[in-house]
Amino acid sequence: MKPKALRKPLISGNWKMNFSHLEAINIVQKFSYGLGVSDPSRVDITLHPPFTALRSVQTVIDADDLPISLGAQDVHWEKSGAFTGEVSAEMLAKLNVSYVIVGHSERRQYFGETDEMVAKKAAAVHAFSMTPIVCVGETLEERDGGDTEGKVLGQLRAGLGLLDADQIARSVIAYEPIWAIGTGRTATPEDAQKVCASIRSAVAADHGAAAGASLRVQYGGSVKAANIEALMAQPDIDGALVGGASLDPAELADIVGRAASAR
Ligand code: 13P
Repeated sequence: MKPKALRKPLISGNWKMNFSHLEAINIVQKFSYGLGVSDPSRVDITLHPPFTALRSVQTVIDADDLPISLGAQDVHWEKSGAFTGEVSAEMLAKLNVSYVIVGHSERRQYFGETDEMVAKKAAAVHAFSMTPIVCVGETLEERDGGDTEGKVLGQLRAGLGLLDADQIARSVIAYEPIWAIGTGRTATPEDAQKVCASIRSAVAADHGAAAGASLRVQYGGSVKAANIEALMAQPDIDGALVGGASLDPAELADIVGRAASAR
């Protein structure tokens, strides 16, 4: 297996449905001032604003040459057509988006997103040379019933089902236990590691050792500055998908700094 040190950590801020485009500009600027005190070159950083703020955030990143990649929170799998309210992968790519979250548990839970839709979205993202962040995770009931691995690996295999081994090697998986999202309850670093290691082993078994070794696996669920170092110390955790704490630019900069120095 490729040692963890060869996989660059990825810290992603998922803003969910927060911030107008004007607020977003302000947050990115504050975040970038905070980054000045850390070493961002040791870590990849993505920000995922709502669709309405993508263009504004992209303009700030470009104008100030910030070490941040633009991310989106969702995408539709079709190229174009009569899909009112949807946004295509090509539209995102034209905005310099490079990472797209697909299959977030909130989309699965509130918008009926299925594994099949997640697979089509991941394929559409790759078709336009962007990177999908494919989210997987179990409910508390599933965890208590001893079905964490069954649920997570089922979502993983389905979500990657339309990709080839090279595309999988370049993809990101976010393991986000649903009971840890927005609850302040983080999985213990050991529990998170166990699931992230199973994800990597399943990918290696299905798609070859190289894909398993290159794939980056993030943990998500109540990540903050106070717990990022213990998570990053785990051998199969390559970064974090941060929700609530990413809305505070100083906290997010602190998370990035700690993730960078944990390497
Ligand atoms: P919180 O960090 O608010 O728990 O959210 C996690 C998440 O869902 C990121 O996508």
